[in-house]
Amino acid sequence: MITSERATFGSKFGAILATAGSAVGLGNIWRFPYMLGANGGAAFLLIYLICVVLLGLPVMISEFYIGKHTHRNAVGAFKEMAPGTKWSLIGYNGVIAAFLILGFYAVVSGWTIEYIIQAFSGTLHGKDAASFQADFEMFSSSTVRPIIWTIAFILLTHVIIISGVKDGIERASKVMMPALFLILIVLCIRSVTLPGAEKGLEFFFNPDFSKITSSVVLSAMGQTFFSLSIGMGCLITYASYFNKTTNIQNTALQVTALDTLVSVLAGVMIFPAVFCFGITPTAGPELVFITLPNVFEQLPLGWLWSVVFFILLALAALTSTISLHEVATAYTHEEFKISRTKAAWLVSAGVMVLGIVSSLSFGVLKDFTIGGLTFFSLLDYVTAKIMLPLGGMFICIYVGYRVDRKILKAELTNEGTLPFYFFNTYAFFMKYIAPIAIAMIFLNELGLINKIVNFFQ
Ligand code: TRP
Repeated sequence: MITSERATFGSKFGAILATAGSAVGLGNIWRFPYMLGANGGAAFLLIYLICVVLLGLPVMISEFYIGKHTHRNAVGAFKEMAPGTKWSLIGYNGVIAAFLILGFYAVVSGWTIEYIIQAFSGTLHGKDAASFQADFEMFSSSTVRPIIWTIAFILLTHVIIISGVKDGIERASKVMMPALFLILIVLCIRSVTLPGAEKGLEFFFNPDFSKITSSVVLSAMGQTFFSLSIGMGCLITYASYFNKTTNIQNTALQVTALDTLVSVLAGVMIFPAVFCFGITPTAGPELVFITLPNVFEQLPLGWLWSVVFFILLALAALTSTISLHEVATAYTHEEFKISRTKAAWLVSAGVMVLGIVSSLSFGVLKDFTIGGLTFFSLLDYVTAKIMLPLGGMFICIYVGYRVDRKILKAELTNEGTLPFYFFNTYAFFMKYIAPIAIAMIFLNELGLINKIVNFFQ
């Protein structure tokens, strides 16, 4: 074991920032609004918020516990806690998920580079809503440019990964988070003062319960796992860099609250504008990229706002791609005992291959579908809606049924030096509520619950 040489985060604040940097990303600003738009609006928001509390927090605290307790990567942690058992499959599931998520996440991150350049050069300016949409489609379906940006983004992530945990990850997060927050607020104010904003706010906040279907619930659960970076050992890996005094409970509460706030702000920024400019809320992955340029047009010095916004979005994406890359790199480096640099190269190369194919699936490979999904959507579906919730379920089952309560409590309260008022509630949610709810959502989506109910009728 190489515990003693492992890096730690420089300060408690740094640990929280880096974890928040992992959670806050394209998941909040790009994926959340498009999922909500495609899944019935406010009803999705409601179920999402319920999932964050019932599933998100228990899984996050459990991942923190595993990482902080073992100081190992996602696979190594289970090998240490439960040697010779199949529990390490949770870690392998996570490492594979890291590759698959990066395989489509890097493509969208690449789009943010294109938009920074377009914003700078002024081509993002002076068009109507229809041309913003047409131009996005032309760009994303082209062959060369999006691939170049995808590869560039992977290399950028790679450079930060090999420069180490503290200097790379922590420093990047420290600058970006507050700035992103400020600009989101400005854009929200502009959006809600647009003509017709009420319609968007109603779509976002006023739930229509008839819209709730099993697939809406599955999507909201998937979004919870994706947005909070949970279910695949990412937070196990990050918590392995926590130091002895890091407060797990506070970190989990703060990161969850911040992440949820950013998603809600993103919704307030997007939906009034969507309705004002006559864009369809169900537009899909392009939603944010065709809506925001319209908002920038409505601001004085719009080009400047758009440059700053897309730079911040790229940075938010970067602190998330770093955390995904780190899961696979830490595993490869520590379990195969090869250098960090070599491990990082292997990961980057694998992700580039996936990234190229997912980028092409908006263009030349559009008609190559599996189960009706393009390669890009397939990667998203398999990870967010299957691998992460499954991983989260087994993490809860492991901590709930295999870990000694006393050891768990000692770790969560830093050997009794911190109070943990909610320990019993957390333990109950983690042991019973989260795994059962996740299992039921799966069964429901497969139509099995209906079949069982019908069987007994
Ligand atoms: N949570 C990030 C976002 O919202 C993406 C991400 C980073 C992630 N690490 C993860 C998703 C681990 C799932 C698992 O953009």
